[in-house]
Amino acid sequence: MCGIVGAIARRNVSKILIEGLSRLEYRGYDSSGVAINNEEGVYSHRAVGKVQALKDKFEVQPLDGKMGIAHTRWATHGKPTEANAHPHFSGDDLALVHNGIIENHEPLRRELKDKGYEFKSETDTEVIVHLIHDAMKTQPDLLKAVQVTLTKLHGAFAIGVVQKDDNDRFIAARKGSPLVVGVGIEENFVASDQLALLHVTDQFIFLEEGDVVEVSRDGVSIYDAKGDLQERPISVFNHNIDATDKGEFRHYMMKEIYEQPKVISACLEGRISESKVLTSCFGADSAFLKEVENVHIVACGTSYHAGMVAKYWIEDLAGIPCSVEVASEYRYRKVAVPKKTLFLTLSQSGETADTLAALRMAKELGYLTTLAICNVPSSTLVRESALTLLTNAGPEIGVASTKAFTTQLTALLITSVAIAVENGLSAEKEKALVQALRSLPAHVNDALLQDAHIKEVADRFANKHNALFLGRGTMYPIALEGSLKLKEISYIHAEAYPAGELKHGPLALVDEDMPIIALVPHNDMLDKLKSNLQEVAARGGELYVFADKDTDLNNEENIIFTEVPKVDSILEPIVHTIPLQLLSYHVAVVKGTDVDQPRNLAKSVTVE
Ligand code: G6P
Repeated sequence: MCGIVGAIARRNVSKILIEGLSRLEYRGYDSSGVAINNEEGVYSHRAVGKVQALKDKFEVQPLDGKMGIAHTRWATHGKPTEANAHPHFSGDDLALVHNGIIENHEPLRRELKDKGYEFKSETDTEVIVHLIHDAMKTQPDLLKAVQVTLTKLHGAFAIGVVQKDDNDRFIAARKGSPLVVGVGIEENFVASDQLALLHVTDQFIFLEEGDVVEVSRDGVSIYDAKGDLQERPISVFNHNIDATDKGEFRHYMMKEIYEQPKVISACLEGRISESKVLTSCFGADSAFLKEVENVHIVACGTSYHAGMVAKYWIEDLAGIPCSVEVASEYRYRKVAVPKKTLFLTLSQSGETADTLAALRMAKELGYLTTLAICNVPSSTLVRESALTLLTNAGPEIGVASTKAFTTQLTALLITSVAIAVENGLSAEKEKALVQALRSLPAHVNDALLQDAHIKEVADRFANKHNALFLGRGTMYPIALEGSLKLKEISYIHAEAYPAGELKHGPLALVDEDMPIIALVPHNDMLDKLKSNLQEVAARGGELYVFADKDTDLNNEENIIFTEVPKVDSILEPIVHTIPLQLLSYHVAVVKGTDVDQPRNLAKSVTVE
């Protein structure tokens, strides 16, 4: 989604801003722009497509100045054109970048037009810059004019604003969309996330909802929504900077797939002993584990699929009811909350607008407590939840989530066991599950050994237009996740079904052109799933079977077999995820798509 970078320094900031935009590319965008302040005024370049197109403009016509704002735009209102790209101007006095959506932009636009403002774009953003300009007629100070303007805006946003003839400060603000301040030495910055600023600082201040910040070379002044000056703590970014480097890999996605044994270990670290789950991992207040009688899980996209797996685990191990819902549905309906229900959100980014809105709604509904399983310690979701279990996967750059998903599953399995222990799980069973968890990184590593074979399998998908994924039990959400991965990055239309539903519809689609990807666990569902496969084979369907070798399935006519390591059945959904990630990756490479930044998608969905 849209990304913001702002900088003020004693040196030229144009390269800092453009490097910041390149670092935000992973979030997904379709145009970009920069505005630079110098003694002569505010000047900008804007371009459609990749940040490289913007760099090309700077090559032809450099813009130098010691203060500026920059933006990658993911189109919401108006097509991805240069006219709609940010920064937007009011006359030549003010330039503004914006992330989020202004819901009341239509009436505001009408009011401003009546006052004589001319609009040059179709965006909701342009109203903000004209409103600030209008406010300055009675309130000439930019900071105060921004504060007045923000009270008129409905929706979620983060903004950055510069003013002509004021080269010593710029103003930024956030309400609902993420924004972080980067603190340097005689230079300061803002950005939508820390990764955009790691080339200039490792010290950050996380703005709170409603904060407005005046950023100058010598410091930052932060005002809360009421206009009171606030001190906010500085945090030091402690991830290895190499985390944002592709290393030996061609794509971030592949690097992140291969990091999984390491990050799953990091997720387990300090959370389990030899035989027990360490409940201290939920923080000082782990008493909820004794009380919880129901679980509501709310998430979006891949995180939602992780939640679907957890439902099987929680109901199976702890014997308490668990429901799972996508946040965009949950937030707009009346939810019945049974007594002593845990509200559990899952989010890789911790900034997904629908998940945050669901959490805010849930806080009013009398839940036992709120727990976030999240990958970004500084995220809004973490800050607004009562309890947090971090997944510790490190930054994930590829839009298609891989290591964030398997670490979410790992954290969910830890949580499920912890709840189960308080609901009668025997010490012996707990020990067996903990030992299974300890073996997980090694099994994931073994699953990666099939990479070369899966690359060959992927060649057969190059000309396919559709695919059907089948699974039963915990393999059903993994089938959903496999199909999502394939459609996200290879643009092949893919669906997933619980295998038992095959004859209630999807069987009608099966012919020799439709690859069927079957996830075959080695558990009491095996024989039932084998019958489903027979139904497909009988209709000439091409079967791609992912199973361990003890299932007695193998390469035979109509079956392309991929071996998955034999593991404790509780781990099967995690280990079976790996070959599906590799399959989507290699199919996308064969098809020549933009693997790390698939068209139209965004990494962090900060608007509804
Ligand atoms: C976007 C991303 C997905 C992610 C989903 C939810 O669609 O492309 O990879 O699963 O948002 O994001 P979250 O950060 O809340 O897990």
